[in-house]
Amino acid sequence: MRRYLRIVVLCLACGFCSLLYAFSQLAVSLEEGAGGGGGKPQAAAASWLAGGGRGAARGAGSAGTAAHPGRSDRYSLKIQPVEKMHLAVVACGERLEETMTMLKSAIIFSIKPLQFHIFAEDQLHDSFKGRLESWSFLQTFNYTLYPITFPTENAAEWKKLFKPCASQRLFLPLILKEVDSLLYVDTDILFLRPVDDIWSLLKKFNSTQIAAMAPEHEEPRIGWYNRFARHPYYGKTGINSGVMLMNMTRMRRKYFKNDMTTVRLRWGDILMPLLKKYKLNITWGDQDLLNIIFFHNPDSLFVFPCQWNYRPDHCIYGSNCQEAEEEGIFILHGNRGVYHDDKQPAFRAVYEALRNCSFEDEDIRSLFKSLELELQKTVHTYCGKIYKIFIKQLTKSIGDRYDRPPKER
Ligand SMILES: *[C@@H]1O[C@H](CO)[C@@H](O)[C@H](O)[C@H]1NC(C)=O
Ligand SMILES: *[C@@H]1O[C@H](CO)[C@@H](O)[C@H](O)[C@H]1NC(C)=O
Ligand SMILES: *[C@@H]1O[C@H](CO)[C@@H](O)[C@H](O)[C@H]1NC(C)=O
Ligand SMILES: *[C@@H]1O[C@H](CO)[C@@H](O)[C@H](O)[C@H]1NC(C)=O
Ligand SMILES: *[C@@H]1O[C@H](CO)[C@@H](O)[C@H](O)[C@H]1NC(C)=O
Repeated sequence: MRRYLRIVVLCLACGFCSLLYAFSQLAVSLEEGAGGGGGKPQAAAASWLAGGGRGAARGAGSAGTAAHPGRSDRYSLKIQPVEKMHLAVVACGERLEETMTMLKSAIIFSIKPLQFHIFAEDQLHDSFKGRLESWSFLQTFNYTLYPITFPTENAAEWKKLFKPCASQRLFLPLILKEVDSLLYVDTDILFLRPVDDIWSLLKKFNSTQIAAMAPEHEEPRIGWYNRFARHPYYGKTGINSGVMLMNMTRMRRKYFKNDMTTVRLRWGDILMPLLKKYKLNITWGDQDLLNIIFFHNPDSLFVFPCQWNYRPDHCIYGSNCQEAEEEGIFILHGNRGVYHDDKQPAFRAVYEALRNCSFEDEDIRSLFKSLELELQKTVHTYCGKIYKIFIKQLTKSIGDRYDRPPKER
């Protein structure tokens, strides 16, 4: 009887051990499955975000799928719907050519598809449509044209108070209700780097941040707000709204602190009382209102460095944007009309080079060489002296996107 029991115990022990072994084998194979099967699309998706073919080669290499890069790419496209980047601009007056050049610079370097939201005076619509249709063969962007417009609620009251063109950008969260996030830029912006890169800052927002902008000045001694403003403004020198990244979902949800009532107000409710209170004291229109709003809500703003919104102020009295000196200019902002007069030839040279450039790879690849020659003619100016920072990032962006074998693109 005792022997019989021993045999049973032995059998049970053996069974238990083999079960353990089976489980451990299963665990190993599951792990491998996750590492191999799951890793491929992940790496491919990440590389799609990081830099097209060049990135894909790198990502696929590390995941060991170099043998079937095409297949894993298609797979990642299927399982991961590609996020669109929404870009808005407001064009009034003689801004058609400038706006088209801005859009071209966005298209040339960007990787993910773009959705343009173009707010323009009615007489410009046909020209925009014609020019954009002639680019539609590229298939990397879509666009919608809008009239200069106010939110449908209270439109009449808005119209009495706001100059439409100057304040359009304030209303974007209320007009583009279906859009989660948006990059707003002035017409005099030129991208020297993929839109993808500034777009990726949205993911760096902490839980209270709703928008991102650059400081108005780096050097308080030449700052405008800190010397002249008759209203509150953000930070030491204020913020510049020429390049403004917004998570509009958050802007629409937030209740803003303010100096008009003790209750917090929503975006749609704060603008009109704000303008009524400050209209005699503001100089730069809607940018001043943004400064007042973020003065009262500083934890809602993500401040990005000056190289993402590089203006003549950063170099006309000597260079004061340190980040641009180190890494180059990422986004050029030719405010005060410097693309069209002779005051800052370095800014004008970049504008003309991009305006003259076609979408032909060959044209884009040779862009920076001809531009460098033009910039070398501007070294008698303060901005021209540091012309290298105007092409540093541009050269890299062109290399990343256009200097590889055609089959990889
Ligand atoms: C543009 O819109 C069309 C039709 O809605 C769509 O098929 C296409 O994928 C879009 N292209 C981009 C680049 O978003
Ligand atoms: C914007 O904020 C909302 C709400 O927090 C979030 O769900 C969404 O993912 C954000 N958008 C981006 C592009 O990060
Ligand atoms: C407008 O400016 C004047 C003069 O600097 C100042 O006295 C007044 O308080 C300002 N108004 C507001 C609403 O800040
Ligand atoms: C988010 O960042 C801003 C700016 O740095 C800061 O003021 C705010 O407190 C941060 N919010 C949280 C929740 O950490
Ligand atoms: C751009 O084209 C215009 C006229 O077509 C020409 O005068 C100008 O020199 C060109 N500029 C550059 C930088 O290539």
